[in-house]
Amino acid sequence: MKIGIVGGALQGIEAVFLSEKAGFETLVIDRKESAPALSLSDSREVFDITEDAGRARKVLGDCDAVIPACEETEALVLLDRIMEDSQIPLLFDLDSYRISSSKEKSNAIMAGIGIPIPEPWPECGFPAIVKPSSQSGSVGVSAVNSAEEMDAAVKAVTDMEDIPIVQEFVSGKSVSVEVIGNGEMTRSFCTTEVVLDSNYDCKMVLCKPNVLPKEDNELFSGMGKKIAQRIGLKALMDVEAIYTEKGLRVLEIDARIPSQTPAAVWAATDINILEELTFMHTGRNTGRKNRNGCSAYEHYLVENGSLITCGEKTFGKITKPRFEQRFFGSDEAITDYLPGKDTWAATVITRGRDPAEVLENRKKFIRNVMDECGLDEYKDRSPKMI
Ligand SMILES: Nc1ncnc2c1ncn2[C@@H]1O[C@H](COP(=O)(O)OP(=O)(O)O)[C@@H](O)[C@H]1O
Ligand SMILES: [Mg+2]
Repeated sequence: MKIGIVGGALQGIEAVFLSEKAGFETLVIDRKESAPALSLSDSREVFDITEDAGRARKVLGDCDAVIPACEETEALVLLDRIMEDSQIPLLFDLDSYRISSSKEKSNAIMAGIGIPIPEPWPECGFPAIVKPSSQSGSVGVSAVNSAEEMDAAVKAVTDMEDIPIVQEFVSGKSVSVEVIGNGEMTRSFCTTEVVLDSNYDCKMVLCKPNVLPKEDNELFSGMGKKIAQRIGLKALMDVEAIYTEKGLRVLEIDARIPSQTPAAVWAATDINILEELTFMHTGRNTGRKNRNGCSAYEHYLVENGSLITCGEKTFGKITKPRFEQRFFGSDEAITDYLPGKDTWAATVITRGRDPAEVLENRKKFIRNVMDECGLDEYKDRSPKMI
């Protein structure tokens, strides 16, 4: 089984990691020579598919399945067209992606089928959140407490030529669930907890059976499947929510391969979402059973004698990473570390039978790095409370 992955940044790293765990052969295409997933895959091609569709058709024609790992509309539309003419499954659903990349559209759909979303302005009052309808990665998101702040935040969004979404500011644990579909069946996976860094970037994903109480967990999975059925999902999406005192409030859906959460799910459960998606689209069954274990997936940076937890955007600047196992006592890593190097980064996965064992193993990893690399400080940054 050979899988073609278009895009070699964070989503591409995730796709290569999962493919490798599923025993698939990988080909990564990226227009940038520096794209980190290129050094992780079995083979690579450096070119822009929108500039050479013929070459894209040729190299992808040799694959058994193709998945885009980028969010550029032009490339996605082209890929959709190229693959439509072939017999090769494209593990992507352009129609669902178009809905999910507009918060205006997806909020209207979710509200229409009774999914709880943050209350819209003006009913919600202050504090409120202002965010652009079509951006991702927390770009242009602001919390506002007064009419003046609101005007400035709305102007910032309209200056980006986007539509402002104004809604209730909700607080609580950030949770995520993945859902796959083939237009007929839908299936959801283990809920994960997303922990943010000081820039509201994801620095850690925790996967364990009890991220949410049983009843809310079933509700959340049910919401994911209900949304997937409503939009006729034919690939993979994730659903992000905040678990507030009043219950779950869904922030957004994203119909594309996410980074981080599937790797955490795999490490805790043995269920590989990319493998399940590929099998679903080729009419086969993986037969894998959920191990119901726990995992933590996180990013670290070593610089100036310190070990620092960081977000995925900082980690994404890594060049020529490789996969490692039992890295300073962790289970899995993606890193550019070399003995004697004083600046390096790593994505690290630690497993355990329960959350306490995961914490113990994470502490061991931190101690090992500090001791073996002679570091004198460990910094863990968290968001400032609003
Ligand atoms: N209504 C809200 N209340 C509180 N925080 C929010 C709200 N909406 C978004 N956020 C915060 O902003 C981040 C980005 O918002 P999100 O809706 O996920 O958009 P995107 O990830 O596409 O930029 C979220 O992870 C969350 O931390
Ligand atoms: Mg988001």
